[in-house]
Amino acid sequence: MCGIVGYVGHRQALDVVVEGLRRLEYRGYDSSGVAIISDDATLQTAKKAGRIENLDALLAERTITGTTGMGHTRWATHGAPNDRNAHPHTDTSGRIAVVHNGIIENFVALQAELEREGVEFASDTDSETVAHLVAGVLRRGEAETLADALRIVCRRLEGAFTLVLIDAENPDTVVAARRNSPLVLGLGDGETFLGSDVAAFIEFTRQAVELGQDQVVEIDRSGYRITDFDGRTVEGSPFTIDWDLAAAEKSGYDYFMLKEIQEQPSAVADTLRSHFQNGRITLDEQRLDPSTLREVDKVFVVACGTAYHAGLLAKQAIEHWTRIPVEVEMASEFRYRDPVLDRQTLVVAISQSGETADTLEAVRHAKDQKATVLAICNTNGAQIPRESDAVLYTHAGPEIGVASTKCFTAQVAAVLILGLALAEARGTKYPDEIAAEYAALQAMPDLIATTLQVGEQVRAVAREIASAKAILFLGRHVGYPVALEGALKLKELAYMHAEGFPAGELKHGPIALIEQDLPVVVVMPSPTGRPLLHQKMLSNIAEISARGARTIVIAEEGDELVAKHAAHLIEIPRTRTLLSPLLTTIPLQILAAEIAQLRGNDIDKPRNLAKSVTVE
Ligand code: F6R
Repeated sequence: MCGIVGYVGHRQALDVVVEGLRRLEYRGYDSSGVAIISDDATLQTAKKAGRIENLDALLAERTITGTTGMGHTRWATHGAPNDRNAHPHTDTSGRIAVVHNGIIENFVALQAELEREGVEFASDTDSETVAHLVAGVLRRGEAETLADALRIVCRRLEGAFTLVLIDAENPDTVVAARRNSPLVLGLGDGETFLGSDVAAFIEFTRQAVELGQDQVVEIDRSGYRITDFDGRTVEGSPFTIDWDLAAAEKSGYDYFMLKEIQEQPSAVADTLRSHFQNGRITLDEQRLDPSTLREVDKVFVVACGTAYHAGLLAKQAIEHWTRIPVEVEMASEFRYRDPVLDRQTLVVAISQSGETADTLEAVRHAKDQKATVLAICNTNGAQIPRESDAVLYTHAGPEIGVASTKCFTAQVAAVLILGLALAEARGTKYPDEIAAEYAALQAMPDLIATTLQVGEQVRAVAREIASAKAILFLGRHVGYPVALEGALKLKELAYMHAEGFPAGELKHGPIALIEQDLPVVVVMPSPTGRPLLHQKMLSNIAEISARGARTIVIAEEGDELVAKHAAHLIEIPRTRTLLSPLLTTIPLQILAAEIAQLRGNDIDKPRNLAKSVTVE
């Protein structure tokens, strides 16, 4: 949700900033823009609605030079996605430029105050207020430096923000601030970078520093200085980026999403590898008394979208292995309905980005109610893991495609690991049973690789149904969250109406939707693992086929009974029921991607979406 880049060093800032924006474009693509200070200390800006190619075209007509600058790629919140509202925004004198990610909640009051002082706004954004406020503080001599002025202004801001500012009168410095939105520093040789995430500067350095909550940083060629909003010096948290440039590039694929689908064997393998040592399950950051997991008497899983579907699978595994009741809740609903939480409640927050505002607020609510919070996250040091009591990281690597694929399967692996960790802590499973479950999990990366071979067959089905007006997805037990995930992928990528249902629920209403040739994707239970459900699902297929549905059935290999009933049969390898979503999801991801491509959609950047949603 908005990507931000800052740079000061010895290279042409424009090149570094635009390249950084390209890597952050997944965060928002409503508009993009840059501000660079020239060698004669003039502020030069360029910004354009739409994708970065539009900015490229504008920049091709201009000469912008200088070694200090910043840029922004926008996901619109306040103000339409047009040129006028594209960032950077400047103060009236054109001295200060600002880019912003987040929402300044008290901007209406601040804007009214500025208007009373005679400021005329050039955009409809909340962000522009910051440029005028900072310029005012400097003009009135209330602060000597840009960083001092920003600290004064930050103390007045409410909401979530990462802000980056440059000042034409201080050409060798970039300053930034963060509250509730991400910001990292990159440290090079004679150059320093800022980015919403490390992808912004991975090409230039692996040395990074994480910024804490409510902090201001000042960067120049020789390094950085971090303070809190009151000006007290604080230490950042340095870390080395453990993935390389290739991970953030398409490596020959047309889209990141297609590459990320193929990367699922290693995403799951890497996630598993790091959480089982010396016969025991391990978490990453454990700031809990070990007895806490033993004493938990209720689990809530909070998450959004695809991560919520991983949460539904967490329920199945945790309840089955530990007998602890689990509730799964959309994070956006959780805190507003006053859920019953106490010291013995474990809240599991699943978020690949670790930034999602709904999930973060659910975490805060849970902490306020004294519950223990465990985060499952793919982004090291993001806000959700920072505010949680324990963390289980997924190791899927950077996911650039906006629709989540490899992070979802890594989350499913993670919730299975968590189920085993709870079973181990509470003694509901013997160590040899845990080791056996874990061994079955370790076979999954190879089985995912085998499942990926259905790609061509799924693409052929996609060609047949790409022009359908809607597609339904049915599942039972663990197949139901998979059906929901298949429908979500199709909605967001292909812009088609799609719904996931528990197959048993069909005859209570949704069966009225079935008409001649309507494609219905069915996720079959295993005939050996869940024979009763398998039988019931066969009846459901018969019911819909009789009404003209065209069934696309995802079934375990060797399921001869279903073969007779399926218009299209996609076979996947046999595995344990609780682990099967790691396989059944794969054809649905491929189906959605292929239909979207056939419909001419950009599958990495679906319309209206952004990768991390940092507003509620
Ligand atoms: C869908 C998708 C979203 C995210 C959701 C939560 O493909 O990616 O539904 O799963 O926005 O995001 P995180 O996991 O970052 O909290």
